Amino acid sequence: MARKVIIAGNWKMNKTAAEGKALVEELKPLVAGVTAADIVVCPPFTTLGAVIEAAKGSNIKVGAQNVHWEKSGAFTGEISADMLVEAGVEYVIIGHSERRQYFGETDETVNKRVKAAIAAGLKVIMCVGETLEERESNKTQAVLDAQLEGGLAGISAADAEGIVIAYEPVWAIGTGKTATPDVAEETQAGIRAKLAALYSKEVAENIRIQYGGSMKADNAEALVSKKDIDGGLIGGAALKAGSFAELIANGIKGAQSK
Ligand code: PGA
Repeated sequence: MARKVIIAGNWKMNKTAAEGKALVEELKPLVAGVTAADIVVCPPFTTLGAVIEAAKGSNIKVGAQNVHWEKSGAFTGEISADMLVEAGVEYVIIGHSERRQYFGETDETVNKRVKAAIAAGLKVIMCVGETLEERESNKTQAVLDAQLEGGLAGISAADAEGIVIAYEPVWAIGTGKTATPDVAEETQAGIRAKLAALYSKEVAENIRIQYGGSMKADNAEALVSKKDIDGGLIGGAALKAGSFAELIANGIKGAQSK
């Protein structure tokens, strides 16, 4: 079990450049010296520059929340992978359920974004997750299988190993309802089984799978103590340096108890 914990903050449409800089300045001393987890913050596009500057020389990595698949051209309002790389971005979240729900994201567009991001050298956090209705009608595994198959279509095993999968049950995002560690583990074991079917058992064992959806400092340890939960994608609890740092420490504790 050599998978390194990865805790990523998804700030969504929160934090101006000044606020983002202040958060990172506050977070830096709280996580200084932490090497047992990859720590990532994902601010809005216009906040990236200030956060990248503030995070320089620290163990805090920076990601974007979306990327377009074309390199350049007439795509008003979009940002390319090369633009993110030039700005100093290292990670990118792709296919978050809010983008699927509100902005017409499909498995096909997720796949195009993943390919473009990898080609540009970005590290991908690809989100999958079922709705409450899908869970209640026993479609969870089928939905996740289709999202994984579609999102990873044409991605080589070598590239897939570098991708982080974020399992985020839609019903748990921002609702305060967390999947119990057992439910999250059972589902993420299913995700790993699908990855093994798509690639191989060995490749699947190397892919990190985060849990996301109302993960907080007080449930992070129990969640990350589970075999197939390698970290978290955090919304609300990532917006304050103190709670985010505590969550990271507890997540590491969970991983150490495996
Ligand atoms: P939440 O959001 O932690 O606020 O539930 C998680 C996410 O959407 O990535």
